[in-house]
Amino acid sequence: MNELLRVEQLGVVFHAARGRVYAVDGVDLAIAPGEVLGLVGESGSGKSVTLRAIARLLHEEAHITGRVLWQGRDLLTLPARALEQVRGAGIGTIFQEPMAALNPVLSIGLQIDESLRAHTGLDAAGRRARARELLDLVGIADAASRLRQYPHEFSGGMRQRAMIAIALAANPKLLLADEPTTALDVTIQDQILRLLLRLVSELSMAMLLVTHDLGVVASTCDRVAVMYAGRLCETGPTAQVLHAPRHAYTDALLRALPGEGAARARLQPIPGMPPRIDHPSPGCPFAPRCTHAEPRCDRERPAMQDVAPGRASACFAQDRLGVAA
Ligand SMILES: Nc1ncnc2c1ncn2[C@@H]1O[C@H](COP(=O)(O)OP(=O)(O)O)[C@@H](O)[C@H]1O
Ligand code: SF4
Ligand SMILES: [Mg+2]
Repeated sequence: MNELLRVEQLGVVFHAARGRVYAVDGVDLAIAPGEVLGLVGESGSGKSVTLRAIARLLHEEAHITGRVLWQGRDLLTLPARALEQVRGAGIGTIFQEPMAALNPVLSIGLQIDESLRAHTGLDAAGRRARARELLDLVGIADAASRLRQYPHEFSGGMRQRAMIAIALAANPKLLLADEPTTALDVTIQDQILRLLLRLVSELSMAMLLVTHDLGVVASTCDRVAVMYAGRLCETGPTAQVLHAPRHAYTDALLRALPGEGAARARLQPIPGMPPRIDHPSPGCPFAPRCTHAEPRCDRERPAMQDVAPGRASACFAQDRLGVAA
């Protein structure tokens, strides 16, 4: 595969006051140019930490291991200045809560201008024109007066559109989007998702889309990676994974959905306790809740294995699964 980003054996351990938290453990991912990869899993599975580790947005208390390769360079060891270049021009980020990511005391226009100034060679007039273009692109009408407004004068959906405009100002090749629609009203969620998909396709960007919504994955992602307790369970083309999962956790997630093919289905709780990531199991973290578990699941860690072209799964029951129910 022609790769834009390759993540190898990413690990993140937090040294918190209450002890160590193994938030991400041995994650491998690859994204091709123009591809939309969904990262899905229940709350607390390590999706946001994975994204923040890739963008190197974690603070010192996080111990990060592995490699994040971007055009042959490991972002985890890149010096600060080179990293700033990649962050803007190569990789853009969009987060769940735009209010937290926007600067409340700067106008939207100034925040877009900062990004343009840092990542393009445009002069002041060029930046003003480009800022208006960007607001048009993300569907904010009346751009000239909107640019003078502050984040609190925007609705939630408008703020997320403004965040997207700021990310796009640097012409990134990859967008990292962490639940970009979760904090919004349902009707606005659809609009923002459609906007993101249109932009990804028009601007030939790739996107790593974090979500806990399998309906969103089904309707937007080329490939999907399923995460549980900081580890990847399975990866593959979306339609194949959702129709014939090869990991017992994916299978349980799909069975927990309310009704076949529910368009906007949220993940429902799977019976049993969520895993402890302060004392990770030597075996499969899903074993205590898994209806397919075998005795070795408690002791042995299932390794990621190729199960079909472009598909991998880390589950001892992978050969017993995969036949659509
Ligand atoms: N700064 C931090 N310090 C300690 N633990 C953290 C920190 N950030 C996240 N975690 C823990 O890491 C785990 C994964 O979190 P997160 O990636 O936010 O989950 P998700 O995005 O999948 O809901 C959670 O158990 C969370 O409590
Ligand atoms: S490895 Fe074992 S416990 Fe883990 S999901 Fe597969 S069958 Fe279940
Ligand atoms: Mg999250």
